[in-house]
Amino acid sequence: MNHSIAIFGAGSIGAYVGAALIAGGADVVLIARPRSCERYVREGIAISDLEGRREHIDAARIHCSADPAALADAGLILVTVKSADTAAAAQALAAHARRDALVLSLQNGIGNADTLRAALPGMTVLGGMVPFNVVQTADGRFHRGTEGQLMAEASPALATWLPAFAAAGLPLSERSDFAAVQWGKLLLNLNNAVNALSGLPLKAELSQRDYRRCLALLMEEALRALAASGIAPAQIGGVAPRRLPTMLRLPDWIYRRIASASLKIDPEARSSMWEDLQAGRRTEVDYLNGAVARLAQRAGLDAPANRRIVALVHEAEAGKGQAMAGAQLLAALRA
Ligand SMILES: NC(=O)c1ccc[n+]([C@@H]2O[C@H](COP(=O)([O-])OP(=O)(O)OC[C@H]3O[C@@H](n4cnc5c(N)ncnc54)[C@H](OP(=O)(O)O)[C@@H]3O)[C@@H](O)[C@H]2O)c1
Repeated sequence: MNHSIAIFGAGSIGAYVGAALIAGGADVVLIARPRSCERYVREGIAISDLEGRREHIDAARIHCSADPAALADAGLILVTVKSADTAAAAQALAAHARRDALVLSLQNGIGNADTLRAALPGMTVLGGMVPFNVVQTADGRFHRGTEGQLMAEASPALATWLPAFAAAGLPLSERSDFAAVQWGKLLLNLNNAVNALSGLPLKAELSQRDYRRCLALLMEEALRALAASGIAPAQIGGVAPRRLPTMLRLPDWIYRRIASASLKIDPEARSSMWEDLQAGRRTEVDYLNGAVARLAQRAGLDAPANRRIVALVHEAEAGKGQAMAGAQLLAALRA
């Protein structure tokens, strides 16, 4: 069978975007681990969002394979594995993808599209950005708990595919300043580690000033490193990057008022880093806070709070330590 769109790594983002594309009428094949595929083709895939969308894609409409050869006919390949798996995904694409296929990385972090490009000479590889958050609920639904529009590096190669994203209810906008977009998103992703260590849903975590102070500290280091490197991060969401630390440090009652106007988060939303810790998986912390520490070092600066939170998340990956209260985490980051 010919599948026009392939999703490589159908976990939270891949299954959500893939199911939305199928609901919109696209011909999609999911590449996933055997246990995920078995579930998708047995039960179908249910998706929901904070605006009240709820959809179930019947099992009969799901095409899923653990064998990357199944993407051989795809004209568009969305890469949705975690950053540590990008190099392996790139090898699979090099072996099986059509040379004229468009590859779009829908991953966080800075270097994933470059990793794919290096392994896929001659192919068009674009960076993409997913601004919203998706987690699996206890009943197996893929739930989008925050808002925002997909973005990608501007390219004429995207034109064919934009209608499929629009029909999926996930309109994709093109950005000519994509490096700035990626760094703007990475600033927000610095909260993933804070959220994972808090053990709380995003909304509950961000409603506590001490956790927000932790995030403000991490963002300030990143903003300093970016400024020293001549990078101006793009604004993702309602607040300009340079204003984020000040906003985060506001007392709870003022923050709540501003946040409710600029940021919609439902009570189910959590960071995928929290999910990784729960599942005993390696997290992306080296690609997020670690990227800030590396950028600072290259600019002759230090980013000690980001370095410390990387170490804390690695301890949590090793099963050491419990959820940290805001004041405890703040003290550890300032130590
Ligand atoms: N979740 C979010 O809210 C969110 C939001 C914005 C951006 N992102 C970014 O999107 C990317 C994906 O995140 P995610 O949360 O969707 O991750 P995820 O739930 O872990 O999904 C990735 C899936 O790909 C599978 N996989 C990895 N290598 C594979 C291979 N060679 N063949 C088949 N399957 C493979 C993984 O299986 P194993 O776990 O067994 O390896 C996992 O099921 C990350 O860069 C993340 O930062 C996530």
